Amino acid sequence: MSRNEEQFEVARNFLAGGVSASTRVNRAIGRPMYFDRAAGCRLWDLDGREYLDLCTSHGAALLGHAPPQVFEAVQRALSRGAPCSYENETHAQLAQELCEAIPCCERVRFTGSGSEATMHCLRLARAFTGRTKLLKFEGNFHGYHDQVMFALSAPPEGPGPVTHPTVTPASTGMVPALAEQLVVVPFNRTDLLEQAFQQHGGELAAAICEPIYYNAGCVLPDPAFIAALRRLTTEHGALLVFDEVLCAFRMGPGGAQEYLGVTPDLCTVGKAVGGGFPLSAFGGRHDIMRRLMPEGDCQHSGTYNGHVVPVAAGLAAVRAYRQPGFYDHINALAGALYTGLAGLFAKHGLVARVQGLGARFGIYFGIEQEVRDWRDTLQHDRAKMLQFVAAAIQEGVYFHDYGGAACHHGFCAAMTQADVNEALARLDRALGTLAGDA
Ligand SMILES: Cc1ncc(COP(=O)(O)O)c(C=O)c1O
Repeated sequence: MSRNEEQFEVARNFLAGGVSASTRVNRAIGRPMYFDRAAGCRLWDLDGREYLDLCTSHGAALLGHAPPQVFEAVQRALSRGAPCSYENETHAQLAQELCEAIPCCERVRFTGSGSEATMHCLRLARAFTGRTKLLKFEGNFHGYHDQVMFALSAPPEGPGPVTHPTVTPASTGMVPALAEQLVVVPFNRTDLLEQAFQQHGGELAAAICEPIYYNAGCVLPDPAFIAALRRLTTEHGALLVFDEVLCAFRMGPGGAQEYLGVTPDLCTVGKAVGGGFPLSAFGGRHDIMRRLMPEGDCQHSGTYNGHVVPVAAGLAAVRAYRQPGFYDHINALAGALYTGLAGLFAKHGLVARVQGLGARFGIYFGIEQEVRDWRDTLQHDRAKMLQFVAAAIQEGVYFHDYGGAACHHGFCAAMTQADVNEALARLDRALGTLAGDA
């Protein structure tokens, strides 16, 4: 038994399911990976095997592992005693960086996780509008709280007609009646979006979306669809919320809203914002954010909110993203990696599509045409994907399959062109094994 396998046996005696988070089990190997150490774009497991990381902490490690500027900032915060539940000057400094970089942000608030960010953001939208219903898109993921964790996977009887998607809770233990507060529409369907607003527009507090839908791999919104979403929310007095927990900083310092040229009323940011430390945030128009206590009447608080260590890490990380040339490097690597991957699939005679933007991408086995919404991902050959991830891990490239129809993958800024070439060479060997199986 390897040390990784042994560790899983030990962990299962004390941790429920052997893990601290359900999706930490990599479905391709049936257990979590145990990493002993990490540096830049590389990880080493408990058995001393080295991997190029194409999971990048589910998107948190955009700068790579142990980025020097972040670690120096963390050490400075620790050397000042890291007083918990108090503020210092770094909170406003990071808030200023976010307000300067992200178009909709006039004020921000920090949270620990992305789930808390969307939860508080939606409460604020309801407080501001005095309405309760929320429009969400089929498959879009907004965290683990009960308000919006619906319509994420197809029930056994199928996803239902596009005009009336089946809205099932994504976990037992959720109150099914919360679904009555949701209007669910397929992504990229402008016609159905217009119909939904005609029917429910006056009841909606907010429409929330993943503006770049990375939780289905990488799905871009049609310009007409995202423009209609902005227009319809404004016309019907609902707030537009971009959940940028995953897409913020991925393709530019201003995130998806800057890239798409569409400014929401509120947004959330997470993952990359903390530079690998637990930090998320939500922000938006000042007149809306003013409704938060203590100025207003909407509650948002928490003992660990905006802890000085992750805030110091986040400040160093966001300053790094805002440096000139940062995204030239990301985009150059993205081009090389995604084209290289598509070339490898073709070389090995495997039908697989690669869709990526900035530092994150999706792979769809058995699909040739563009993936435009969550329903398209249901055609993705999951069994082949699991074989691919297992073969990649065997050859020293770490992908994480956390379940769901399609997963997102990514690389970090610490990668070089030479690292990309090395990753492609390792994946060439992995695909050789896989194609042999085909
Ligand atoms: C778009 C989006 N929103 C919210 C969340 C929840 O964030 P967290 O896992 O930090 O709670 C995620 C996590 O993957 C996400 O991708």
